[in-house]
Amino acid sequence: MELNIALLRGDGIGPEIVDSAVRVLGKTAERYGHRISFTPYLIGGAAYNATGEPLPDETVNGCLASDSVLLGAVGGPEWDALPGDKRPEKALLGIRSALGLYTNLRPAKLYPALRSASPLKDSIVGDGFDLLIVRELTGGIYFGDRGYRDGKYGQEAYDTEAYSVTETERIGRAAFEAAMKRSKRLCSVDKANVLETSRLWRKTMHALSEEYPEVEYSDMFVDNAAMQLVRDPSQFDVIVTSNMFGDILSDEASQITGSIGMLASASLGSGTRGLYEPIHGSAPDIAGQDKANPIATILSAAMMLRYSFGLQEEADAIEAAVDRVLDAGYRTADITGDSSAAPLTCSEMTEKIIEAL
Ligand code: IPM
Ligand code: MG
Repeated sequence: MELNIALLRGDGIGPEIVDSAVRVLGKTAERYGHRISFTPYLIGGAAYNATGEPLPDETVNGCLASDSVLLGAVGGPEWDALPGDKRPEKALLGIRSALGLYTNLRPAKLYPALRSASPLKDSIVGDGFDLLIVRELTGGIYFGDRGYRDGKYGQEAYDTEAYSVTETERIGRAAFEAAMKRSKRLCSVDKANVLETSRLWRKTMHALSEEYPEVEYSDMFVDNAAMQLVRDPSQFDVIVTSNMFGDILSDEASQITGSIGMLASASLGSGTRGLYEPIHGSAPDIAGQDKANPIATILSAAMMLRYSFGLQEEADAIEAAVDRVLDAGYRTADITGDSSAAPLTCSEMTEKIIEAL
């Protein structure tokens, strides 16, 4: 198979972790006889510094011409004072939207080997948990009308949330389909006791649930969901929710695994092209020091092989290699937990995973 991949290394540790994933993908392609090419494009602060724009047209066009996109991370204190439309984060929203990637899959599972890293007590974690957050990614309040106006108390800022039935149905469908491939439980999270958008969302999800009688469907208010995630995470299989609620709950879910440096994500649209990125950020404090954990990006590359290219066996091989390396006790600094062993660097960890492949 021929794979043309656009690389968006981005800022901070982005370049190091993307290069690790590129090495792992290269090795996998070699082993399974695929031809893989990588074309780098600028995004985020790096793009702003070079071109004055966080998301240059060349990057959007390059991604549109690729089969799939691998992203590191964007942002850092250097760009924090920029106006909203020049900020690195704007590029992330922009590329998701330009590629039509409305479905964001964020798995959060507890790795048995890293159990001690979870901040949750054993009595809560029980036999572990493995959940998937399906976050709507191109609508809602992150994309609604915003601005300044004269209000009751003088000048005020506002952001608005809107969700159409069409947008809700397509993310709902993605979530029901994902649930069908897992334990067939789907919880839709909203704030229907307050928000009109949530009431329409809930009504739409209920209608959709009729089409998936095998899926055990439930609704939950977002404040309760935030609480239930730390009270009993294993009650969840798939969670579907809006852009903002998904942003917040996915950070919470990643933290209770104790290993945010391990969690991958996929952003998908109606075609096969996707954007794959680690859940964590650009970690400017350790950038360029070869200390970052490359595993989340490597696992994102595995998700790419699975979802964009249908290369199940290859994806499984990468995930199994990561499991073996962890089981053998190798750790980067962020996941050493109680262990006294010296942590591996980013490149050493990459090397171990390539060996295990
Ligand atoms: C995420 C991030 C982004 C988001 C930011 C950086 C724009 O928090 O991917 O979760 O809110 O989507
Ligand atoms: Mg976030």
